Amino acid sequence: MADEDPRGLSGRCGIAVLIIVIAAISATTILYAAGSTQENSPTGSNGLATADGQIALPAPDHKSGSTLDYAMEHRRSSRSYLNESISPETLSLILWSAQGITDPASGKRTAPSAMHTYPITLYMAVNNVTGVSPGMYTYDPVTHSISRYLDAAGKDAVLEAMGQRQVFSAPVTIILSGNSTVFTEKGQSSETALRHICLEAGHIVQNILLMETSREMAGVPFTGFNSTAVDEQLGLTGGHHVVYAVTAAYPADR
Ligand SMILES: Cc1cc2nc3c(=O)[nH]c(=O)nc-3n(C[C@H](O)[C@H](O)[C@H](O)COP(=O)(O)O)c2cc1C
Repeated sequence: MADEDPRGLSGRCGIAVLIIVIAAISATTILYAAGSTQENSPTGSNGLATADGQIALPAPDHKSGSTLDYAMEHRRSSRSYLNESISPETLSLILWSAQGITDPASGKRTAPSAMHTYPITLYMAVNNVTGVSPGMYTYDPVTHSISRYLDAAGKDAVLEAMGQRQVFSAPVTIILSGNSTVFTEKGQSSETALRHICLEAGHIVQNILLMETSREMAGVPFTGFNSTAVDEQLGLTGGHHVVYAVTAAYPADR
């Protein structure tokens, strides 16, 4: 198993600038040529699937967890997990911590966003969530729902492309993709766009890890994967590229 990405996140973002055109051209071609398992195309400006297969999540229960101080003190990366499912209620909390809307009037969320642009889309590889079929899903913060995006075989292909063993035993792996066009359309350079995306991804993943810890869960944030291969398996096109991932699980090493 790879540990940390030897290039580091900033180096990876720099390389992402170089591969942006090649990946955009090749991703769709390879996915569909291979006999796609994609169930809904990323049709919206944020790359979300259509409403088909949408699952409304329960409202987050904010009274069930430990304090923020406890979560900050006890957060540790874990790569070894119990064979225990995650409930929809817990998935709801985790996704709310990542990108939940906390002010419906402005649309502002739990994590900050450069120029209020929200360039990150969350993809969930679901292996073991109670009542949710294994597969790949996307999160829609506006409706606080998940939509089925790839079937179980498509999800497995994404996890294979990620290449780190913890993704196979984790009930959920959350994969973050960034949309650089929201910045380049405002006249910003691709490098600035990727800097914003990587920083925002960091905010989101820390929120997820602290929420997990507050519910006696753990995961590992990771970048040590072939992002072009993961982009291809997810069918990401245009300015959309995977930048970061984090598992959600009940740890076996505590
Ligand atoms: C940007 C970033 C990339 C990382 N990539 C990986 C990775 O590819 N594989 C992995 O097992 N851990 C990865 N980690 C987790 C680190 O190894 C871990 O955070 C570090 O050992 C400190 O341990 P702690 O998280 O338990 O405090 C990454 C962490 C960060 C912040």
